[in-house]
Amino acid sequence: MSVLLNVENLTTCFKTDRGLVKAVDAVSYHVDEREIIGLVGESGCGKSVSQLSVMQLIPTPPGEITDGEVILEGQDLLRLEANGPEMRSIRGGKIAMIFQEPTTSLNPVLTISRQLTEALELHMHMEGDVARERAIELLRLVGIPDGERRIDNYPHQFSGGMRQRVMIAMALSCNPKMLIADEPTTAVDVSTQAQLLELLKDMVTRFDSSLVIVTHNLGVVARYAERIYVMYAGRIVESGTAKDIFSKPRHPYTIGLLACVPRLDEETGKRLVPIKGMPPNLINMPPTCAFLPRCVYRIEKCEREPWPTLSLTDGQHYAACYVDTRG
Ligand SMILES: Nc1ncnc2c1ncn2[C@@H]1O[C@H](COP(=O)(O)OP(=O)(O)O)[C@@H](O)[C@H]1O
Ligand SMILES: [Mg+2]
Repeated sequence: MSVLLNVENLTTCFKTDRGLVKAVDAVSYHVDEREIIGLVGESGCGKSVSQLSVMQLIPTPPGEITDGEVILEGQDLLRLEANGPEMRSIRGGKIAMIFQEPTTSLNPVLTISRQLTEALELHMHMEGDVARERAIELLRLVGIPDGERRIDNYPHQFSGGMRQRVMIAMALSCNPKMLIADEPTTAVDVSTQAQLLELLKDMVTRFDSSLVIVTHNLGVVARYAERIYVMYAGRIVESGTAKDIFSKPRHPYTIGLLACVPRLDEETGKRLVPIKGMPPNLINMPPTCAFLPRCVYRIEKCEREPWPTLSLTDGQHYAACYVDTRG
């Protein structure tokens, strides 16, 4: 499989009154063509900032991408001007993003038709009836029946789940190479969640796109992602195939996340144990492992040595930890 996106050493900081927040700290990952990956971690780990950095959507100031490369099909996006024409055409054209709260991305005063056709006109050079027909077709593809009528509705006339479907239609309207879905199902109920994830998976398969699912819920990506990156305090702490991550997690943080996910393959009634404590705030981080204060596996070495870098455990499976958690 060939690599579509290669992110190396991505580092993004925010200057705040309280100090410098290192929200994304030397993050590297890649996404193959037509691959589905999961980016998982608790709230505040830097998931959204990493993805917004890839899209060059970081508000500057206070934010700044201070290091790294974001190579999409051989081109380093970070060398493009954030608001220049090339980057604008990549956003929405080659990489599309769906956010947690569709009400923030859909314009409440414009009809669905207007918003969908605008994207088709801008990126696909479609006009008039052609764009409208394509928009109705897209609504049908994402499971909105009666598109001929619904297309003239305003966002508030749709339910939360339906608005999220419209967002998916909009994101895919330009045949992007990659779709980033940032907590796409957090604002909807559990049964809608599953339907939306199924839909996302079907849609990227149909459109030959790659998909990055960003979520705080490891359970969400279990069935959909081929590979998973686990993020903590601005860094990737473990990565591997979904099978590796679920069947033999190595980093104590991943083990902790898994302990709070209901599993179908284990006896029912097993207690779900949340990880004690909170993720650190990312200002003035100590040089030691950021998970140390919450870690039940910690050893003396962890208190002495700097935060370990990712190292290969087996196959494609990497973890950033001094402890052999298998023992
Ligand atoms: N505009 C901003 N100004 C200052 N800090 C920010 C800003 N945006 C995000 N951050 C900080 O960056 C860190 C990572 O945030 P984020 O990527 O949104 O986390 P996640 O998506 O994993 O929940 C957090 O500590 C957050 O407070
Ligand atoms: Mg987020």
